[in-house]
Amino acid sequence: MVRKIRKACVIGSGVMGSGIAAHLANVGIPVLLLDIVPKDLTPEEKEKGLTLQDKAVRNRITETNKAKLLKQKPAPLTKKENLELIEAGNLEDDLPRIREADWIIEAVVENLEVKRSVFEKIDRYRRPGSIVSSNTSGISVRQMAEGRSEDFKRHFLGTHFFNPPRYLKLLEIIPAEETDPEVTETMKTFAEDVLGKGVVIAKDTPNFIANRIGTYGLLVTVREMVKGGYSIGEVDSVTGPLIGRPKSATFRTLDVVGLDTFVHVANNVYHQVEGEEKEVFKVPDFVLKMLEKGWLGAKSGQGFYLKKGKEIFELDIRAMVYVPRKKLKTASTEAAKQQRGAKNKLKALVYADDRAGRLLWNIFAPTLIYAAERAYAIADDLAAVDQAMKWGFGWELGPFESWDAIGLEKSVERMEKEGYVVPGWVKEMLAKGFKSFYKTEKGKVYYYHQGEYKAVRENKKTIHLKLWKEEHGVIKKNAGASLIDLGDDVALLEFHSPNNAIGMDIIQMINAAVEEAEKNFKGLVIGNQGKNFCVGANIALMLMEAQDENFDELDLVVRQFQQAMLRIKYARKPVVAAPFNMTLGGGAEVCLHAPRIQASMETYIGLVEVGVGLIPGGGGSKELYVKHLERLPQGIKVDLQEVVMKVFETVAMAKVSASAEEARENGFLSPEDSISVNPDHLLYDAKQRVLELYEKGFRPKPRKKIPVAGETGYAAMLLAAQTMHRSGYISDHDLKIAKKLAYVLAGGKVPFGTEVDEQYLLDLEREAFLSLIGEPKTQERMQHMLLKGKPLRN
Ligand code: NAI
Repeated sequence: MVRKIRKACVIGSGVMGSGIAAHLANVGIPVLLLDIVPKDLTPEEKEKGLTLQDKAVRNRITETNKAKLLKQKPAPLTKKENLELIEAGNLEDDLPRIREADWIIEAVVENLEVKRSVFEKIDRYRRPGSIVSSNTSGISVRQMAEGRSEDFKRHFLGTHFFNPPRYLKLLEIIPAEETDPEVTETMKTFAEDVLGKGVVIAKDTPNFIANRIGTYGLLVTVREMVKGGYSIGEVDSVTGPLIGRPKSATFRTLDVVGLDTFVHVANNVYHQVEGEEKEVFKVPDFVLKMLEKGWLGAKSGQGFYLKKGKEIFELDIRAMVYVPRKKLKTASTEAAKQQRGAKNKLKALVYADDRAGRLLWNIFAPTLIYAAERAYAIADDLAAVDQAMKWGFGWELGPFESWDAIGLEKSVERMEKEGYVVPGWVKEMLAKGFKSFYKTEKGKVYYYHQGEYKAVRENKKTIHLKLWKEEHGVIKKNAGASLIDLGDDVALLEFHSPNNAIGMDIIQMINAAVEEAEKNFKGLVIGNQGKNFCVGANIALMLMEAQDENFDELDLVVRQFQQAMLRIKYARKPVVAAPFNMTLGGGAEVCLHAPRIQASMETYIGLVEVGVGLIPGGGGSKELYVKHLERLPQGIKVDLQEVVMKVFETVAMAKVSASAEEARENGFLSPEDSISVNPDHLLYDAKQRVLELYEKGFRPKPRKKIPVAGETGYAAMLLAAQTMHRSGYISDHDLKIAKKLAYVLAGGKVPFGTEVDEQYLLDLEREAFLSLIGEPKTQERMQHMLLKGKPLRN
């Protein structure tokens, strides 16, 4: 039995196979990627004189799919070099090499016979004890294993990734009856800890959990749309963020998935179920018409929507023509917008007697009932159903959580009055006095299961900050941040201002947190579980001060921010920053100053101040420069000019990393900083780093002078900026900003190689920052960012 997965083999190099291979490479696992040998030569191959016996031809399909990984968006690889971990081969010449793999994943076309023939080959060549899995979206795992050897069957299961595998969190693991429970457990732990996935164990039923419930929900939505005479755009306007679902809501999601895939998934259930359920899974006529016309969505350029220039049109499903997009705006949608959180919004909507309310009730009532009817047939418990929907479809609330949110008793009463048949176990549960599917007690979540509440089982590395705080309280708190005891003598500084933007309250809490950690803890983690780690400083406040010409006040704030950054850098106890998702401007400065970073794999970090007409003011440029110098190997003569140029490019172009790996390449992460693949484990991992540093006898870095490139460096950076300006790449205002940045990074007008104080560089940053914020064009940029959420090029 394999316990460690060191090498994998992926069979089928299409959309999913190549995506899974990429994700394995992202976590450092070498992959052998195999696909079929082409039957014919391409014209180019013929021209080159190649034959069907040549390796280049035989591996063509795999090589082509592998090469696509570098071009796809969003990027499947966290850094380009990961591609080297994927070795391309084919299903004839390389079959014997399957035995090298600890895990063999099949991701060939969704066809039982094809999959069976692949498993027959795998069975012949695999090493006994190696794990074999199928990425099928809905074929029975038991049927696929039929006819295989005993050892194969014991090590075989379904591993259903969602597309794209790097980004979508859900992994459904489907053991068959003969699967060794230890194999299932090994796979689950591996997928959570190493691949960073959210694992749900599913039963071997058509489409497993997420696609079963999800497709039902989508088809009911389509049915209710048709019945109630709503338009595509109207439905999307109330089935997205308003109810805690992704922006792409219902129909834009379908356009992204592709109508052909959707129909395939729906048909798979249709052919395997009976009665009323079958009716719902029957694909409506207008969808079949779209399929005939090839209106498949994003991949064919049009689907439920069509983009013409900048304008988006929706399909009128009766006339089958595209018309301007409509939105549903009713009293209840407006009331819901005033509510905080998906639960309250949902409650405000579903009971409303207007067009939005009626539509949502008519979608939710049958879908919630369906989830309850099927829950135990497709999953072990209702918590698994909710998790699958949240991780696979990006819903904020699973069906049972939604049901709790709208009030179980109240909704069941209405359902029954309207003739819906509520599943017996739900009624029994209510009769026994259990009024909700979930309850929270002492920082733990419990779910209803056969007459009792059971604790939701979770990986020990998962920390739910909100629950943790409910149980353990906070040490200190203000409007923007809290200081929390994270256990094991580690403290946590959490930002929780709107968008986690940094203002005075956060600055104050940084100082308080470091002081408290130095006195009473082994160290400090700076992290949170918001949408993003931090999107930067509170530019609304800064803009207001600037427009009122309160420059003394601004000067004070920037000084205090700089001092807080130095508190982090030179704290006597280890401070570990735990960034994830957007970590911009001031958020990046916080991380840069922390002695260690434990970053989520999905960290998009950058000093983006030029986008709002500024340059970093909190020591960001200085610290990025210092980090570049520090990571050069000892004893190597430092080329200050080259280093400063690289930092200049990164900041002047507001480069944002597309992953934590890329952040390392851009110098935001040092070689000793670590990466967490599973975002749910980030705070736990950061805490372990604090403890390790503490155990090793942590000492802050000594304060050192910093060598700068001075006038020579300034001249070089200026030349680069002027060249860009002359070629029309950057505006006059960009050039002005670039000059200020160059001056700061060069260390002002000093000779090349001068060693300066850290404070001197901070003063240069602050002066440049204050002079820029007084500029009308900078203020225009700030205003634009606040209103439109994107940078203005003026
Ligand atoms: P795809 O069509 O992109 O790739 C299928 C690959 O199978 C191709 O590279 C093809 O050359 C290879 N292939 C074809 N005939 C073969 C044969 N006889 N023997 C071996 N290989 C053969 O398909 P995709 O989308 O990657 O799907 C693969 C599997 O993943 C399917 O089972 C699908 O249901 C499942 N899946 C797909 C998702 C999606 O969003 N595309 C999501 C989750 C699962």
